[in-house]
Amino acid sequence: LHPALRDAHGRVIRDLRISITDRCNFRCTYCMPAEGVVWKTADELLTPDEILTLARVFVRLGIEKLRITGGEALLRDDVVTLARELRRLPGLRDLALTTNGYRFEHYAAALAEAGLNRITISLDSLREDTFYRLTRVKALDRVLRAIDLAHRYGLTPVRVNCVLIRGVNDDEIEAFADFARAWNVSMRFIEYMPLDGPGEWRRELVVPGREVHARLQARYPLLPVAGQPASETARRYRFADGAPGEIGIIAPVTEPFCGACSRLRLTADGKLRTCLFSVVEYDLRDALRAGADERDLGNLVLAAVAKKEAGHRINEPDFIPPSRTMSCIGG
Ligand code: GTP
Ligand code: 5AD
Ligand code: SF4
Repeated sequence: LHPALRDAHGRVIRDLRISITDRCNFRCTYCMPAEGVVWKTADELLTPDEILTLARVFVRLGIEKLRITGGEALLRDDVVTLARELRRLPGLRDLALTTNGYRFEHYAAALAEAGLNRITISLDSLREDTFYRLTRVKALDRVLRAIDLAHRYGLTPVRVNCVLIRGVNDDEIEAFADFARAWNVSMRFIEYMPLDGPGEWRRELVVPGREVHARLQARYPLLPVAGQPASETARRYRFADGAPGEIGIIAPVTEPFCGACSRLRLTADGKLRTCLFSVVEYDLRDALRAGADERDLGNLVLAAVAKKEAGHRINEPDFIPPSRTMSCIGG
């Protein structure tokens, strides 16, 4: 039986998001500056063996869910081997992946075979021009194909992430609801958070989850899904008329869910972050490279978890955005 990783606020930590690269082939405005960021060098990144060693430490401490993220995780060719090895960790219940979908066709079969359980694909617009404006890449068709492929390989229910930005894609909420029904996906509307490149985020650009809910409700009556764990990011709804698909509303800005947070993050260069908005990081890579064994590493994790932040401070006057953009932290 697993011990529980518990923080000073009484929260039980069960999820670890592992970023395997800081690189991305998209340039989503809400995630990265247009010119990109200075990529980490190969020796700064964790090797597959290092990722596995650290993941083993976390799972022994009680982590049950792993999510592989980036940058864009599928830019790393060893992602399949990594997924296979991670899936084998005793005690692990769930292995998920977040991707932009662009390269998914090359990996779908192998990842499904390796034991991946779930996938989340980012899709911020159903219109070519807006898709391009947001991602700075022409790839709408490829992303739609990835969603289709994920179904075919049984990575269901497929989650689709849409970050709403006022005046950019918030006129597509209803179209996305139609899409959720037609494509049988869990369509998740996410409030824009201050994790973008050099500070374009403004509160006026956030589309509140409450507004999204009201607009959807006017089009298709929604019913809350029963039995949702409090630690989940999304509040989930099904369509009252029994249509396929689902809606998720993720409202970290207007309705923070930090009180039930169960997440830790490991960056591609091996730093542990106890919050998306942490200002401190714990260098597990350097400890590992300096010879720390699994017990030492476990102690570092326990010490970090003990200091996990109560929550983000986006709504406080003294809020300071994290020093890294989302692309470096990992979604
Ligand atoms: P699992 O339930 O672990 O599979 O995760 P998920 O489906 O919630 O993961 P996903 O990465 O799709 O999360 C959706 C979005 O919610 C992310 O892209 C972020 O925008 C936001 N988010 C995820 N985790 C956190 C968090 O810990 N804090 C905050 N403030 N936002 C988060
Ligand atoms: N605000 C909210 N969500 C973000 N993501 C990236 N940047 C932001 C941001 N500024 C999330 C999106 C994307 C995932 C990889 O990270 O959901 O799909
Ligand atoms: Fe957890 Fe920090 Fe996200 Fe709040 S902002 S839910 S504490 S990771």
